[in-house]
Amino acid sequence: MEMREQWRSRWGFVLAAAGSAVGLGNLWGFAYRSSQGGGLAFLLLYVLVVLLVCLPVLVAEMVLGRTTKSSPFLAPIKIAGSSWTPLGILFTIASIGILSFYAVIMGWTADSFVHSLFIGLPADMEAASGFFNRISTGNSVFVGQIFSLGLTALIVSAGVRAGIERLTRWCMPLLFILLLALTFWSATLPGAWDGYKTFLLNWDPSQLLEKTTIKNAFNQAFFSLSLGIGIMVAYSSYLDGNNQLPKSALRIASFDTAVGLLAGMITFPIVLSYGLQGAISKSTVGALFIALPTGFANLGGLGRVFATLFFGLAFIAAITSSISLLEVPVSSLMDRLGWKREKAVWTSTLVVFLIGIPSAISINFLGTMDAIFNLILMLGGLFIAILLGWIVPKRFDEDLSRSNSEIKVRRYLRFMLRWVSPPAIAIGLYASLTDFFL
Ligand code: PHE
Repeated sequence: MEMREQWRSRWGFVLAAAGSAVGLGNLWGFAYRSSQGGGLAFLLLYVLVVLLVCLPVLVAEMVLGRTTKSSPFLAPIKIAGSSWTPLGILFTIASIGILSFYAVIMGWTADSFVHSLFIGLPADMEAASGFFNRISTGNSVFVGQIFSLGLTALIVSAGVRAGIERLTRWCMPLLFILLLALTFWSATLPGAWDGYKTFLLNWDPSQLLEKTTIKNAFNQAFFSLSLGIGIMVAYSSYLDGNNQLPKSALRIASFDTAVGLLAGMITFPIVLSYGLQGAISKSTVGALFIALPTGFANLGGLGRVFATLFFGLAFIAAITSSISLLEVPVSSLMDRLGWKREKAVWTSTLVVFLIGIPSAISINFLGTMDAIFNLILMLGGLFIAILLGWIVPKRFDEDLSRSNSEIKVRRYLRFMLRWVSPPAIAIGLYASLTDFFL
């Protein structure tokens, strides 16, 4: 067995985990979910779910990785015996499944970037629909998907330090600068205030009890934090004992939420300024690929510059997430079967590619995959909460006390993990299931 790798620095871990969290889910997902009518109610529920339900689970997932020093596949078995094998399997299947369609959307993003840079953008909605049709059907989808997966595989095969940590150390600051620049620019658009008001600030308390809004808040929180899928297990297994996990988790969750909000503040002014609400309220990921390029195109040369920056930003955000998804099966194969990293990377990538073919061909299929795997994330989260809150609560507490987390914090987290997260996740699951089937 080779020595287990470790992060070079504490920030390396936090940036990599934040890189996993911040991704297309913040840029596309947040915008299309919040445009499904929830408005401020969605926002409020989302923040509550992140703070009260997800944060304790995030810490638990990190503890699971650090205390076992194992891959997501083996960690549940190591901590609680072989009856927990299904959880490791769930993690592995979920990360492969999500990456399979995530890479397709990454491909569309890359294509939009190339278009903004070299070719130009569609000027009206009709041209934009044609544009989206072109990038989302036929061979160009496969080109984008293969390119995205190939790049992801290359980075992951370079290893934790030389690949994942090095990339995220450069990309995350860059991403943040681009994001701020775009937010300021977007605030100067004529429809900026209307954009915020229509999508983010629109207050309708009855939405708080609306099933779709509840489902959206839970889905967005879990997907956006990369939670319940073993990524935080994998990343934390490369940590030494000193990191104060609750602090890191809070940093990651705050950063992720801030990026989601800023992304909304970028997209909605563009949509409102150019009367593109019609496209957005269709509420699929694709709608954004139609509305945003049109909005940018209406701004002439400058619009093209900002479009290039925006799609570049989106791709950077996506790649720091896709590498984390791939790391789950890769570390599991290395750990369970003793494979070399290279072999594990290319085998997993091939499997992901094959499973992704139906999503590349049909957007409806992609949407179904998205819905199914959002459910699985919550299920994973539920099991993590039960595992560390009820089955091995001592391990949870010991691990945190060894790294000097205060007793107050530990008590609070354990209480939430036992009494709040599981029932709340059950509500989220119920809302999602009934929304999916009824
Ligand atoms: N959190 C990432 C995003 O917001 C996507 C992701 C989901 C990554 C689940 C890993 C696991 O885009």
